[in-house]
Amino acid sequence: MSDYKMVTPLEKQPELLSSVKNVILVASGKGGVGKSTMAANLAISLAREGYRTGLLDADVYGPSVPILFDIKNQRPVAEKENEKARIIPIEKYGVKIMSIGLLTKEEDAMIWRGPMASKTLKQVIEDTKWGELDFLLIDMPPGTGDIAITMAQDIKKAKALIVITPQQLAVADGRKAGYMFSNPHVQTPVLGIIENMAWFTPANHPDERYFIFGKGGGQQLADELNAPLIGQIPLVMEIEETSDSGKNIFLTDTPSVHKAFQELTNNILKKVN
Ligand SMILES: Nc1ncnc2c1ncn2[C@@H]1O[C@H](COP(=O)(O)OP(=O)(O)OP(=O)(O)O)[C@@H](O)[C@H]1O
Ligand SMILES: [Mg+2]
Repeated sequence: MSDYKMVTPLEKQPELLSSVKNVILVASGKGGVGKSTMAANLAISLAREGYRTGLLDADVYGPSVPILFDIKNQRPVAEKENEKARIIPIEKYGVKIMSIGLLTKEEDAMIWRGPMASKTLKQVIEDTKWGELDFLLIDMPPGTGDIAITMAQDIKKAKALIVITPQQLAVADGRKAGYMFSNPHVQTPVLGIIENMAWFTPANHPDERYFIFGKGGGQQLADELNAPLIGQIPLVMEIEETSDSGKNIFLTDTPSVHKAFQELTNNILKKVN
């Protein structure tokens, strides 16, 4: 037993994403809480505010970004730069977008083992011609697996947003994500907690709030992780409709949703500045 040594992770690589000012990992311990939806709408919101913004889909096994932006059938082109091929991200709603879903066949990525998936993803990050960006949001896969750890460890400047829904089960999984980020081998600062589906607001009664998944989960996790509750997004039909059809929520007549995303965006801007 005395010969047993803890395997230390590779040094964080400072050169990864050197042209990007702020890298934000949108993560959660749990699937289906709305990470991709938050990452996409936050990216659009930051771009609307005039920030140069990119969005990377790190969910290699279940990429959602091509659907969220309705760009499934688009293929990024490559450009030669100093004898090296650079991939030009797809641009939509002012956001530079890259996803493994745009580069590979679904059935190919599905059979990659963890290290292969992480390696490929890192290659895509390096090969993409992001240009100068104020923000790169990374839509993380659910949980605390290989890809999540690699992204958090290897992108030195990354900060995290943890998305949860108000239920205790989601809080418990969000806590696990918090543990991953605060682990001494990872050390990714948590910018804040986003409580998604915080309440239900019916379209015809925009001022009403029904706490169908309970109340206070977001604040509870924020207190536990000593991070702010940085935004609360209501459960509304239009968010689901626009995400599934790749439309821009800011082009729909939903002032209360715009307000929720704008507040979230402003709080994040305050935190990073
Ligand atoms: N606030 C909301 N109101 C209504 N529907 C929502 C809201 N947030 C997310 N959804 C819907 O919930 C579903 C799951 O969201 P999403 O895919 O963003 O979750 P995820 O955490 O990224 O999931 P996964 O873990 O599979 O990557 C989607 O159909 C999305 O449109
Ligand atoms: Mg997702």
